Amino acid sequence: MLKRFRRLRRNEVMRNLVRETQFSLDDLIYPLFIEEGISAPQPISTLPGIERIPESALAGEVEELWALGVRYVMPFGISHRKDEVGSDTWNDDGLLARMVRTIKQACPQMMVIPDICFCEYTSHGHCGVIDEDHVCNDATVENLVKQSVTAARAGADMLAPSAMMDGQIRAMREGLDAAGFENVAILAHSAKFASSFYGPFRVAVDSELKGDRKGYQLDYANGRQALADALLDEEEGADILMVKPGLAYLDVLARLRERTLLPLASYQVGGEYAAIKFAAQAGALDERAVVFETLTAFKRAGADMIVSYYTKQVAQWLAQRS
Ligand code: PBG
Ligand code: ZN
Repeated sequence: MLKRFRRLRRNEVMRNLVRETQFSLDDLIYPLFIEEGISAPQPISTLPGIERIPESALAGEVEELWALGVRYVMPFGISHRKDEVGSDTWNDDGLLARMVRTIKQACPQMMVIPDICFCEYTSHGHCGVIDEDHVCNDATVENLVKQSVTAARAGADMLAPSAMMDGQIRAMREGLDAAGFENVAILAHSAKFASSFYGPFRVAVDSELKGDRKGYQLDYANGRQALADALLDEEEGADILMVKPGLAYLDVLARLRERTLLPLASYQVGGEYAAIKFAAQAGALDERAVVFETLTAFKRAGADMIVSYYTKQVAQWLAQRS
């Protein structure tokens, strides 16, 4: 036989030689949930193994992560100061600014990439300013710029806007530059779909949302529109483009990979973590094997980096191995 693909699969050393993709801790971004006004960590029922940590424990957590080899964190705040517009996010003493400062003080080299949005800080749980029954695009974008400059002033290295407002990337880029933060990068949630895989996250952050986000997040049936939306973010000045959720949208990621030269990110969202975790707890899946397989799949599809709740666990698994 002229072609025998099994020749290159004969043993592990041979397979390692021809392996096309792998992931490492340099590819993984760890989301952190930080709640103000609590003194003990709170388990999250929908994300077993993940906790909301009190602000007082944040510095210690970040030091532990650094020692494990985790280099990128994405803090999410659980606010006790919600209002109609989420104004706590542009207060220099608000939760967002405090989280960023605490992380940078504890671990100056840890790269801090805060989620930039309003839904954890609004009394209605939507990602911006509400008028009657819709989220006002341009008023929200103005507030996003204020939030971005506040996060940058607190020391954020990169911002991850997730509100899916039109024009948000251009406005943020201009606002950051005007305030002297031309070196703060933007990791844009460019193709963010309205997904039921976010269910576990909404419990994690105590979301006030009634209804859905279909008026601003992408319809999951639309691949072409997702590419158009993502490519516009590139034109508007995004440094990195993200497709979210992960596994169910690898086709979009792979198609985007063919159309841009920017680095790409994928987000293995709460529902994906929960699906693996609960199946593993039931004895149906080998957790570590499945996690390694999914992370490799993101890389194979074209992701340069992956936001994953499994990051800390992966760091621990890798440490056990060596
Ligand atoms: C909100 C936001 C969401 C996630 C990250 N930022 C949820 C949403 O849009 O409702 C989802 C993360 C996850 O599901 O793990 N802007
Ligand atoms: Zn939001």
